[in-house]
Amino acid sequence: MTTSRRPPSVAFEAAEDAGSSPSANPTIGDMIAARLSRRDLMGGLLAVSVATDALVPRALAAAAGEQTAAPAFRFDFPELAVAPSTETHHVAEGYDADVLIRWGDAVLPEAPPFAPGTADAAAQGKQFGYNNDFIGYVPLDGRSDHGLLVVNHEYTNGELMFPGVAPRSDKDADFSAVTREIVDAEMAAHGGSVLEIEKSDGKWKVIPASKYARRITAETEIEISGPAAGHERLKTSADPSGTLVRGMVNNCAGGVTPWGTWLTCEENFNGYFWGKAAAEPLTIEARALRRYGAPAEWYAWGKFHDRFNVLKEPNEPNRFGWVVEIDPMDPTAMPKKRTAMGRFKHEGAGNIISADGRFVVYQGDDERFDYVYRFVTEGKVDLASRSANKDLLDKGTLYAARFKADGTGEWIPLVHGSANKDGQAWINEANGFKDQGDVLIHTRLAADLVGATRMDRPEDIEVNPKTGKVYVMLTNNAKRKPEQVDAANPRPQNRFGHIIEITPAGGDHTAPTFTWEILLRCGSPEIAEVGATFNPATTANGWFGMPDNCAVDADGRLWVATDGNSPKATGRADGIWAVETEGPGRATSRCFFQVPTGAEMCGPYFTPDLETFFVAVQHPGETEDDGPLSTFEKPGTRWPDFKDGVPPRPSVVAITRKGGGKIAG
Ligand code: FEO
Ligand code: CA
Ligand code: CA
Repeated sequence: MTTSRRPPSVAFEAAEDAGSSPSANPTIGDMIAARLSRRDLMGGLLAVSVATDALVPRALAAAAGEQTAAPAFRFDFPELAVAPSTETHHVAEGYDADVLIRWGDAVLPEAPPFAPGTADAAAQGKQFGYNNDFIGYVPLDGRSDHGLLVVNHEYTNGELMFPGVAPRSDKDADFSAVTREIVDAEMAAHGGSVLEIEKSDGKWKVIPASKYARRITAETEIEISGPAAGHERLKTSADPSGTLVRGMVNNCAGGVTPWGTWLTCEENFNGYFWGKAAAEPLTIEARALRRYGAPAEWYAWGKFHDRFNVLKEPNEPNRFGWVVEIDPMDPTAMPKKRTAMGRFKHEGAGNIISADGRFVVYQGDDERFDYVYRFVTEGKVDLASRSANKDLLDKGTLYAARFKADGTGEWIPLVHGSANKDGQAWINEANGFKDQGDVLIHTRLAADLVGATRMDRPEDIEVNPKTGKVYVMLTNNAKRKPEQVDAANPRPQNRFGHIIEITPAGGDHTAPTFTWEILLRCGSPEIAEVGATFNPATTANGWFGMPDNCAVDADGRLWVATDGNSPKATGRADGIWAVETEGPGRATSRCFFQVPTGAEMCGPYFTPDLETFFVAVQHPGETEDDGPLSTFEKPGTRWPDFKDGVPPRPSVVAITRKGGGKIAG
């Protein structure tokens, strides 16, 4: 074991930052650590008062005092005091945060009980999968206390799930202990779950043996639909039609449509493929593989399944990296990969119906220097007839965003044969695109041609239902060089990320242009070089780094879930921070929830009555910073069961206010 090995969180979520650390400058975490003893850092809540006192500069503390009296900040919960690292989860005082379902719990009625340490694909395919990420709530009969919960299972941590498996890394993968049984169980732990849930006496429960219960895995049959269906580049030996794929992988964030379907987004699909040195360097296939970072060989799937080896099945990677639409109301309905929405490392699918009735989906491509996208359907949403929207997502236009220095921006259509403003052809055969199918399969290559703005890892993008403004989480980009900064990505070595607010021209989400501004630059406001821009009313607990997922409540306030905070990086665990978006309190942030050691925060989602806030605790116990490597035998925490021999279990947590009522007043 060596500390030079990169922890899995870095390898899987932020692989694009692999090896990045161009500067020897101390991190914020180093500075914080220098002020706190190691014992304080590991002491969890015990250390909080020390940390808080140590970190609040006088000016900020004074401002924080004023803030409690000021009405400008529209949150009424008492702020959670941040802990650098904590064995369990914490929520602000006055709330309950109850575990609703854990990895391995029954989803299908016939699921066997969770058996820690065993690799059983058949059992896992009936149980709740690993690493819950996006959560969506679909009301039944319009109710906020009875509905379907749809949950993504993004990836697996074999080293925490099974005995003897080495922690993986992007530097020195060791698959020697990974058996066929383990691979197949990993594949069954991917995908998604549909659960029927109900609240009674203020507590949520999963309804056993529900007719809606469903597991989607990396083996479930999924139709490929839309303009690229049947394309040459999607045909394989198992599927000469290019229309039927087995499974979805790395489903990160997503969305729920107004007609009640679940959009689940494939992100880092490149990590599942084997077969390095795949093709001639100059072919478009080879260019595309490289542009998408495939094959990255993060998993051993290619050892046992030829389709995950690009040397054996060169088109299989093209069948991943899509938005998948699933109807949770009908467990027999085949999921569909909607090719019209493009192929990239999809983060989420925040959406809204435009004024003219068309459906608009905002999408981030989560990689360093990649793009923000918008998809606008050709047809209109029919709210009176659910089935009328069945294939709405198969026709429409995909756009990539260009952010200009003057605070305006434009959406550039990615349409085969289109020319730029000077009449110059760009997305055409001469540039490697035979048809629109090529444009959609190689979306990144098309967006490269049209001058889209290279962003600092676009994660969730969500629409403010009150104002129509759009929030873009940009998680970080430590590799941006000083000469590469631009107005929308203004910090070189952007370690802590920022949030952009987009205002569609004329309030029209289908408009070709928009204006934009930076809502806030993240990181510690107390270290001038960081350049953070939180409202001065933000306390030492209230700032955060690495915004990842988010939710916007009905009052237009932002709830940010983070990925990448840690004792070293920011002196605090990941969690939920509530951010004011309007008025004099704009960009004031307050800590609401923190995850257990090694976890990241995902899936924030409100019930329609705003009385429940579902969050997903992903990869609890994963190796943190350069601490001891975390394994099944010695995990960083045994949350939430805390029983010997039971590994940590990614879980969905339901947050409610004690005594009932809206989460935030
Ligand atoms: Fe899976 Fe971009 O987070
Ligand atoms: Ca995410
Ligand atoms: Ca994430």
